[in-house]
Amino acid sequence: MLTVRAPATSANLGSGFDVFGVALERPADIVRVEKADRTTIDVTGAGSQYIPEDPEKNTVGAVAEALDAPAHIRIDKGIRPASGLGSSAASAAAAAVALNELYDRGKSREELVPVAAEGEAVVSGDAHDDNVAPAILGGFTIATPGGVRCVDADVPLVACLPDIVVSTRDARRVVPDGMRVSELVETVGNAATLTTGMHRDDPELVGEGMYDSVVTPARAELIDGYDAVREAAFEAGATGVTISGAGPTVIAACHEGDRRAVGVAMLDAFEDRGVDAWVYQTAIGGGATLY
Ligand code: HSE
Repeated sequence: MLTVRAPATSANLGSGFDVFGVALERPADIVRVEKADRTTIDVTGAGSQYIPEDPEKNTVGAVAEALDAPAHIRIDKGIRPASGLGSSAASAAAAAVALNELYDRGKSREELVPVAAEGEAVVSGDAHDDNVAPAILGGFTIATPGGVRCVDADVPLVACLPDIVVSTRDARRVVPDGMRVSELVETVGNAATLTTGMHRDDPELVGEGMYDSVVTPARAELIDGYDAVREAAFEAGATGVTISGAGPTVIAACHEGDRRAVGVAMLDAFEDRGVDAWVYQTAIGGGATLY
C-alpha cells in the first residue's frame, strides 16, 4: 500500500486566469492506494458525502484508467469540494503520483500533470492544469499550452473559506467573453508584476499583481460579502486580495506579521454578513508527497 499527501491549491491569483497556481501548505488530501483487479473508491473526510465513489464519476477513477492502474483507492478529504481550493485536483494529483509509483509507470512529475488534469475534467467538465500543476509540483506554477513552469516561492497567504457553495461550472458561466485592449494591457502588467514578486518572495509585488478587473468582479457576485471581506483584509494589512480559483474562498497575500490579523478581519467580515467561514493561515508549499 502507498500513501500520498497532496496540497490544496489556489488557481488564477487574480491576473493569471487559467494560468497561475500555487500550492498551499495546508489543507491537504491524503490518498492511499493498493493494487486490485478493478478500481474501487472509498471517500471520507470534509464534504465526502457529496463525492461519488463510482470510479466513472470520481476524479481518481479517471486517473486510474488513464494509467491502466486498477486499485483500491481510499481518499481522506482535508479539502472541502467546491471550495476554490483545488479539492478535486488534490485527489487527482495524489492518485496520479501514488498509482505511477505503485505500478512503476515511470512517468515524471511533469508528465503526470496532464494525467491528473484529465481526472479533474470528470468533475469540472474541463481539463485545467492550473490546480493540478501546483498540487503535483509545488510552489508557484505557470501552466500554458507549451507546458508548466514552476517557481519555488515563499509568500505568506491567508485563505478564507465561507460556508457558501460555488460550482466551477457556474463560476465559468459568468466569465466575460472578451476584454478591451486597456484591460489586456492592465492584466499583462499585473501578471508580470506578480511573477516578479514570486521570484523575489515579495508580498508587496505579489499582492499588487493579484489585481484583476475582468474575471474577478463577475465572479464576486456569486460570493455574498466578497467586497466587504476584501476591504477588511486590506485594512488589516493584506497586500493583495482575490478569489481563489472559481471561489468561494477568498485569498490574501500579506507579510508574515499580518497573517493572523488578516485572517481575523476576513472571518469577522463574513460573520457580519451572517456567513460562517474557516480561515487557513498558510503559505506557498510543496507538491504531492509520497510516504
Ligand atoms: N482556473 C479555473 C477557474 C480553476 O477559475 O475556473 C478551476 O479549475
